[in-house]
Amino acid sequence: MHPAAPPRRIVAVFAGLSCLLLPLFAHLPKASAATAAYEAENASLYRAAVATNHTGFTGTGFVDYTNVAGGYIEWTVDADTAGSTTIDLRYANGTTTNRPLDISVNGVTVAAGKAFNGTGSWDSWATAPVAVTLKAGANTVRATATTANGGPNIDSLTTATTAAGPGAMAAAPYEYLGWGNPQKPTDVMAATGVKWFTLAFILSDGTCNPKWDGDRALTGGSDQAAINSIRAAGGDIVISAGGWSGNKLGEKCSSAAALAGAYQKVINAYHLKALDIDIEDTEFSNATVRQRVVDALKIVKTDNPGIVTYVTMGTTPTGPDANGKDLIKRGAAAGLANDGWVIMPFDFGGHTGTMGSATVGALDGLKAAVKSAYGYSDDAAYRHIGVSSMNGKTDESDETVTTTDFRTILGYAQQHHIARFAFWSVNRDRACGSGNDADACSGVSQSPYDFTKIVVQYKG
Ligand code: GCU
Repeated sequence: MHPAAPPRRIVAVFAGLSCLLLPLFAHLPKASAATAAYEAENASLYRAAVATNHTGFTGTGFVDYTNVAGGYIEWTVDADTAGSTTIDLRYANGTTTNRPLDISVNGVTVAAGKAFNGTGSWDSWATAPVAVTLKAGANTVRATATTANGGPNIDSLTTATTAAGPGAMAAAPYEYLGWGNPQKPTDVMAATGVKWFTLAFILSDGTCNPKWDGDRALTGGSDQAAINSIRAAGGDIVISAGGWSGNKLGEKCSSAAALAGAYQKVINAYHLKALDIDIEDTEFSNATVRQRVVDALKIVKTDNPGIVTYVTMGTTPTGPDANGKDLIKRGAAAGLANDGWVIMPFDFGGHTGTMGSATVGALDGLKAAVKSAYGYSDDAAYRHIGVSSMNGKTDESDETVTTTDFRTILGYAQQHHIARFAFWSVNRDRACGSGNDADACSGVSQSPYDFTKIVVQYKG
């Protein structure tokens, strides 16, 4: 069993060169429009009630329209900008009779009698998209039951991700909630304006079964509470599986189908819009496992239309090493439409120049590898790469990533519209106190959130 609070460093041979201290790395994805999930149980209700008597809901419950016409659920939905988008209503209908709803936005009906047909059981949830036009700021979205049966059971309303578009998902720094003294995500949001986090890490529990850090249940605990709080504040999450330490699903699941099943449990638990596979150590160095991860992500892409996937790996200062290039080639050969191939440009085992310029060199190499494997144009190649840096001191004494370096990376991201700019980690985005714990502070002189405040400027 995974210990509850593992310090995230381990001695490892890296790049075949030297023994280095590597942290619990994490990393990276792709761009999307701002998205948010709004639980039905937190909305205003009329002739409808919060219930928990079926399984599979997100948040703390779902809403059961009482069996009467005219009941409604009314959400306040925030939009950064005015425009047309899609909202998704997650629902269950355990009968075989349509339970139509009238959907209105700001008092105007946009979908009269929209069908909510049977989903097979009250425990089986489906997603119904509704095209809407939102104004900037607060919008009132109401879903009203139109027949004497009432509506279906409703779990949530989600503003849809635009998988190809730019947005806040592209600036989702890693936060690790499992150890030390992590900042409250909603405090980070209030202090920096960041909307998305990448939460680390999902690991194997010793079998082909995902748990937070390999030992905390997917739902029902502090991790779910943190995610609910992020979403209630208008944010959302990417979940990252992997990292340096612990048991990796890619190795504990014996087939691509089984591995995809493990990833799917994580996706289902949180109705995820984006999944990050942080592939490191022996999960990365073993060709059979690399292929399994690629094939599993292909299944995930097929089974979850629109989901954003990122694959995050270590790198040299000139781009991915032989294993990284091989991984990207396997992705292309499998037809995996991965949204972001992401590198962690630090713990190089030697580099020249600033960490900012070394990062640019590594990203240029990554772009060339992705372009050549997929046959992309330059523009398309840039849009399929990403970076997850590490703020302040890394594990190597000759590496310090400064806010100036972060601004260099921001400039590169903005120029080329890369899929992702993240970093390890929010936990470290503060000066060290007396303990100087490299997992809880940056090791450089800084104000709280100096690095997050640069990353959040990236809009995809
Ligand atoms: C059942 C079911 C409820 C549902 C209701 C209905 O009682 O348990 O969750 O809302 O049917 O017909 O609407």
